[in-house]
Amino acid sequence: MSIRLRMLLSYTAMLVVTIGLFIICGLLMILAITGDISSIKHLYANHYTHKPITAQEENVFLDLKYLAKKQPDRLLDNSSLKSFDEKLKYVPSALVIRKGTQIIYKTDKLISIKSADELPAFEPSNIQVRDTISYGKYYFSYVKFDFYFADQEKGSIFIIKKVSPYVALSKNLFPILIGVLLILLIITNGILHYLVTRSIVKPLYSLKLASEEIRDGNLNYKVTARTKDEIGQLSMAYEEMRQRLKESIDLQLRYEENRKELISNISHDLKTPITAIKGYVEGIRDGVADTPQKKDKYLSTIYRRASDMDSLIDDLFLFSKLDLKKIPFNFEEIDMVRYIKYFIEELSWDFEEQGIKVQSNVDLDSHEFVIADREKLKRVFVNIIQNSLKHMKKNEKILRFSVANRGKHIEIEISDNGNGIEPAALPHLFDRFYREDNARNTSTGGSGLGLAIAKQIIGEHGGEIWATSEIRKGTNIFFTLQYAKK
Ligand SMILES: Nc1ncnc2c1ncn2[C@@H]1O[C@H](COP(=O)(O)OP(=O)(O)OP(=O)(O)O)[C@@H](O)[C@H]1O
Ligand SMILES: [Mg+2]
Repeated sequence: MSIRLRMLLSYTAMLVVTIGLFIICGLLMILAITGDISSIKHLYANHYTHKPITAQEENVFLDLKYLAKKQPDRLLDNSSLKSFDEKLKYVPSALVIRKGTQIIYKTDKLISIKSADELPAFEPSNIQVRDTISYGKYYFSYVKFDFYFADQEKGSIFIIKKVSPYVALSKNLFPILIGVLLILLIITNGILHYLVTRSIVKPLYSLKLASEEIRDGNLNYKVTARTKDEIGQLSMAYEEMRQRLKESIDLQLRYEENRKELISNISHDLKTPITAIKGYVEGIRDGVADTPQKKDKYLSTIYRRASDMDSLIDDLFLFSKLDLKKIPFNFEEIDMVRYIKYFIEELSWDFEEQGIKVQSNVDLDSHEFVIADREKLKRVFVNIIQNSLKHMKKNEKILRFSVANRGKHIEIEISDNGNGIEPAALPHLFDRFYREDNARNTSTGGSGLGLAIAKQIIGEHGGEIWATSEIRKGTNIFFTLQYAKK
């Protein structure tokens, strides 16, 4: 059974049970009050005809009725009527006595009834004694007693009370009202059912559609939560699941793409030196290197190529271990000022040999304590500087170290006055195997892993690395490190 049908049934059951219980309650109450099952049939009519006035008014009425039967002419006496009327002073009823076609007595406050014809007609059998009448826009309920005066003229006693016009109206319209109420109840039930099913069944249906889309491999089918209730929360959770799934599949695809690219790059980078080595070995074997000098040259080329391959494989190992986060980092507090100072000192001989001028803004009396892994950081410096050395072809080669305090982190800058990098190449600089110009770089022996490794290491330190460059002017590499907590 569908939820929609189940809800419809439960609503209808609720309705039927409510109406049923209501009727049973009503019947039981009537039974308890009247003690007579058959009275239920007449109750509606009886109630309206028998109870138009209160007990106090009823008493006055009975007294007057008694008088009318025994001494009707006393009802012509204004003063005795006034004394009866006095008893009605504090209730909303009024007293009217009619003789023939004349009203001979009327309570002062009753102004709306003016002539005797407006009152119910004389009826000697006194059958229709209680009812409601209307005069213009007013409604009155009354009790009446008809009798004969001593001179045989027709007389009537009325106790009249103004009632709300709705009383008479509702009395007449009672069955219709009940019917309308029932119809309203059923319509409300229908509307409620529609609204509730719409807020439950519709979102469930769209969730079903979305699941089918995912099953068929479409991860772009969005589910929007329209409400904040449980169904809305379910839709939100579903949407979150879809996004995560999509992200993880995208990531997996990217990894897959990367892996393919990596394999092709490695194959290419290993293929070139191996082909060269094979060529030289064949050269020696076939006797092309026929002089000891030539043989020596061939062998040293073979050795250089093999060393390049060795260092490429080392770099690859390091890179993939960093990528898989398999290399432990040994973080400690390091004074960056001293660190740079010793680093420059250590390489001063190499710099001098290559005619490189080293500059720095580092104030040797200051201290800048950061959290870093000494060895890995050295690798970052070396990789950046090696690039600078490779790309400085000018006469005056300048390498510059700067340190700047950027609040929570320190910013280290290493700049050269080398060839610079094309703006289009800057965003890819830190990608693995990226070389700005393959042809040119193979001659300089680069594998395109140096800056990718630097980026991995800086990333592990919680820092960032980026570059700015100007063609023919030089390149600046920046990276940040976290300050040690003071
Ligand atoms: N200081 C620089 N000046 C000019 N170009 C640079 C500089 N630093 C990096 N590059 C460019 O960025 C590319 C990537 O550098 P990266 O260090 O990652 O690789 P590589 O130097 O080619 O190889 P490897 O460092 O693995 O030997 C280089 O090939 C080069 O084109
Ligand atoms: Mg490099």
